Amino acid sequence: MSSPDPTPTVHVNTSDGILTISLHRPEKKNALSLAMYVAMTAALRAGQADPAVRAVVMQGTADCFTSGNDIADFVSGPTPERLAPIFDFLGTISTCEKPIVAAVNGLAVGIGTTMLLHCDLVCAGESARFQLPFVNLGLVPEAASSLLLPRLAGSHRAAELLMLGEMFSAATAREIGLVNRVTPDADCQAAAREWAGKLVAKPAAALRLTKSLLKKGSTALVREVMTEEGKLFAARLQSPETAEAFTAFLERRKPDFSRFE
Ligand code: COA
Repeated sequence: MSSPDPTPTVHVNTSDGILTISLHRPEKKNALSLAMYVAMTAALRAGQADPAVRAVVMQGTADCFTSGNDIADFVSGPTPERLAPIFDFLGTISTCEKPIVAAVNGLAVGIGTTMLLHCDLVCAGESARFQLPFVNLGLVPEAASSLLLPRLAGSHRAAELLMLGEMFSAATAREIGLVNRVTPDADCQAAAREWAGKLVAKPAAALRLTKSLLKKGSTALVREVMTEEGKLFAARLQSPETAEAFTAFLERRKPDFSRFE
């Protein structure tokens, strides 16, 4: 059974017990508009409430997961109302009780990488590229990545990825534990669906309890860190450094941070 698309840029489908949320804004590399966050959150909440849904797959298009937050939305005025859909999404994905499998093809930038920290299993195509560019944009990490990434990758690897903010490969993502499995690009979404199918066949209550036990030790801290990061992120969006970074992106030039202390 398919539900109607909440927006044309997020496709939502439920079949065989699997809720599939597909990002579809290829002309902008699946950059996440505020409407897309609202649609993803609604889909996750509906999946959470629907007993027929036993696993979730998050994916992009065949050649791109997502280039992260839509920079144009930030440039046009990051008011608290504008940021709310992003924080709602993060709160929802990080507390979803059903197992989430991600299929990453192509780019996974910013929240495209940090949301993976809240998925249970992650499959990546061999040419997938990941990036945490927050510092490059004058911003700070979000999605509790400042907590979860050092736990996953170790403090020096986390500093390298968050401070240098360079692209990294699927092989590196697997090495640090962000990705479970790397497949040929063309097989990634099918592999994620196959995993989701296996999860659908498991005893749902046992799976739910297992997920909750795996998260239990960090749930309160994740919420606390997300709130703290969110406040700093919102404040940094108003900073001259971020204005320079975003203007440079839109003008397709390198940013110049030399005049800021
Ligand atoms: N927000 C808004 N628009 C974006 C975007 C984003 N995050 N990422 C890509 N786009 C747009 C580009 O502006 C371009 O639009 P245009 O064709 O109307 O000019 C289109 O998507 C294609 O992107 P382009 O930059 O030409 O593709 P690329 O393959 O050369 O580079 C990226 C892809 C993702 C590396 C590059 O677009 C990028 O760095 N984007 C910003 C990513 C980012 O910083 N995200 C985190 C925000 S917090």
